[in-house]
Amino acid sequence: MKTKKEKHEYLKKLREQALLGGGRDRIQKIHESGRFTARERIHVLFDEGTFQETGVFVTHRSSWPGMADNKIVGDGVVCGHGLVNGCNVFAFAQDFTVFGGSLSEANASKITRLMDMAVENGAPIVGLCDSGGARIQEGVASLGGYAEIFLRNTLASGVVPQISAIMGPSAGGAVYSPALTDFVFMVKETSHMFITGPNVIKKVTHEDVTFEELGGALTHNTKSGVAHFMADDDEDCINTIKELLSYLPQNNLEDPPFVTPTDDPNRMEPQLADIVPDDPRAPYDIKDIIHLVVDDGEFLEVQRWWAKNIVVGFARLNGHVVGIVANQPMHLAGVLDINSSNKGARFVRFCDAFNIPLLTFEDVPGFLPGTEQEWGGIIRHGAKLIFAYCEATVPKLTVITRKAYGGAYCVMSSKHIRGDYNVAWPTAELAVMGAEGAVNILYRKAIESADDPDAERRVYIDQFTDAFANPYVAAGLGYLDDVISPENTRPMVIHALENLLNKRQQLPPKKHSNIPL
Ligand code: HXC
Repeated sequence: MKTKKEKHEYLKKLREQALLGGGRDRIQKIHESGRFTARERIHVLFDEGTFQETGVFVTHRSSWPGMADNKIVGDGVVCGHGLVNGCNVFAFAQDFTVFGGSLSEANASKITRLMDMAVENGAPIVGLCDSGGARIQEGVASLGGYAEIFLRNTLASGVVPQISAIMGPSAGGAVYSPALTDFVFMVKETSHMFITGPNVIKKVTHEDVTFEELGGALTHNTKSGVAHFMADDDEDCINTIKELLSYLPQNNLEDPPFVTPTDDPNRMEPQLADIVPDDPRAPYDIKDIIHLVVDDGEFLEVQRWWAKNIVVGFARLNGHVVGIVANQPMHLAGVLDINSSNKGARFVRFCDAFNIPLLTFEDVPGFLPGTEQEWGGIIRHGAKLIFAYCEATVPKLTVITRKAYGGAYCVMSSKHIRGDYNVAWPTAELAVMGAEGAVNILYRKAIESADDPDAERRVYIDQFTDAFANPYVAAGLGYLDDVISPENTRPMVIHALENLLNKRQQLPPKKHSNIPL
């Protein structure tokens, strides 16, 4: 029988083992690869001294030959809760030094217990992923563990914010837990996500592709749209997660965190009047407008490198968090296409689920024409953005800076789909289409039969522009609440937002809607 002293010594030894995970050699390898260990990541994430670990001494239950006597305390995942920016957060970090961070039945149950606790306590879940996937020695028991996580990701969706960071490998079906969460972070060069790896692809499709090209951070942030943020390294990744959390409420029953503002709510910005060029076809950067309007010019952009023709992200107006959706005339003239519709729709739904008011900046010439878009299903993808805006019951503010043409006028948070405060700048043009296109359809015969068709076309274009390419027809119909000077934009949207903060709007009772997926 152990003495009391021996019992204390045993605990100390076991805890040291837990802290070392797979051992010093493997920790060194992780460092050599440019990564932090699971515990180092947890340390950077949580406010100093607030992290409390759960399931510290859990070990696997596999009886596979060689496994029974190879148990590592904690079994490859560090779980627990603590404070991030002073708010409660639940997090798990997969430990690659233990069986390659692979998911066993035992460590899956640590993760699912943590997720249950997060939901019960109404706090965000952060998953720091670095794993070789299902623990091969455990077979279907490991797959069951994944499925248990997927179920909880789904049930927690819209209840607490869920953030995943891919900080090493993430292969096979294991990618679907991150994909079910609200935001996916990836780290340049050290993280990879794919369903099937380069070797299988070579066998099946005969394509040659590297890990990096197939599923690196750049690929998923620029090509696939799977990831929302790309970090330079582990520290940058975790710091950006903390920044993101600073904009999010704890759960769907709470408001996003208010920060005492330092920026003047009545700040006029004469520079705003200079941004939209005289030539209606000339591009400009919508982010210049966003930065000048929001508190202290601070804007956390989401999916910055994908579907750049729409810009989405978080900012504050007089201390209140808002989600910003903006057409970007710098890319594809700000047109709506398949990817930008998906990007916008998902962001709008996230904001609506978590009580984050929406501010839309609109300059959109319509939907992108072409067979690629039509055959790719722009009809059903564009419908997602309409659906998301229609369903959203958070306060919705819209500023039309220039074009609001065609179906895109309806989509971008128009008054008709329950926009609460819709205004336009004097440069706005609200019409079925641009003047040139309209004239070519309406007056083609008259133009063709004129002595000087070009001069005739010019006359019609000028007539059409004067009649329709302005904000006053819409304002006269009540589709706009006001036409404002650009320099007034910040005070006007802040005033509107603060009057709308108590907005309550219900959807008809139903099991759930059927968004066109
Ligand atoms: C058990 C694993 C493991 C796994 C890695 N290890 N993956 N152990 N189950 N899935 C172990 C290795 O045996 C090794 O142990 C240690 O982790 C480190 O692995 P290395 O291969 O030495 O590391 P590295 O060279 O960095 O390569 C990392 C890797 C590679 C690319 C992740 O290990 C790999 O390809 N692993 C298998 C990936 C995979 O196919 N997983 C299944 C995906 S399908 P020692 O003792 O030697 O240090 C899946 C289904 C999920 O996950 C479905 C959900 C619905």
